[in-house]
Amino acid sequence: MVLATRNADKVAEIRRILRLPAGGLVSLLDYPELPEIDETGLTLEDNALIKAREAHRQTGLPCLADDTGLEVDALKGAPGVFSSRFAGPGATYADNTAKLLRAMEAVQEKNRRARFRCVVALKAGKREEWVEGNLEGVILREARGDGGFGYDPVFFIPQAGKTLAEMTLEEKNAVSHRGAAFRRMAERLAERPV
Ligand code: IMP
Repeated sequence: MVLATRNADKVAEIRRILRLPAGGLVSLLDYPELPEIDETGLTLEDNALIKAREAHRQTGLPCLADDTGLEVDALKGAPGVFSSRFAGPGATYADNTAKLLRAMEAVQEKNRRARFRCVVALKAGKREEWVEGNLEGVILREARGDGGFGYDPVFFIPQAGKTLAEMTLEEKNAVSHRGAAFRRMAERLAERPV
């Protein structure tokens, strides 16, 4: 099975979520010759399916793809499907987080709720399926912690009293949007293998 991403942070998390050994999950990092897949969809579901279908077409193997968005209530659901490009094409995690904190400078504590939504799509032959996992939290005013990636340092989980970047990988995977979605997909694959 191929994971349709070149994001090494995601590959590391997903390998642990699925309890696979190092080298036990092939991703597009192992196929450097294949062209980039354009994420042209307007929803997370669209983009997850676009990536899974295209990687399946390119490799001929069963493929899984994850598309994740941060939905901030005070920003009417933005950056959502545009989370990786919030601060423009080629933006770094730090650029995107800085833009998010600036956009929320005037937002009071009680209105800083947000969620990560992760859609995982499967494409194997004619079979197409997708599942979702969510994580609710609050956007802080400054970064805390140096684990995780992306918006993790400003995403606070009230029940845990920590940001995602203050958690170990095991702790993050136990509560995260990606952990929930991939565990759901693993159950589907156990019920009906590809
Ligand atoms: P995509 O699913 O590759 O389109 O990811 C969108 C963007 O959301 C990434 O570039 C990250 O900035 C952010 N992101 C995705 N997953 C996570 C996560 O688990 N924690 C923090 N940020 C994330």
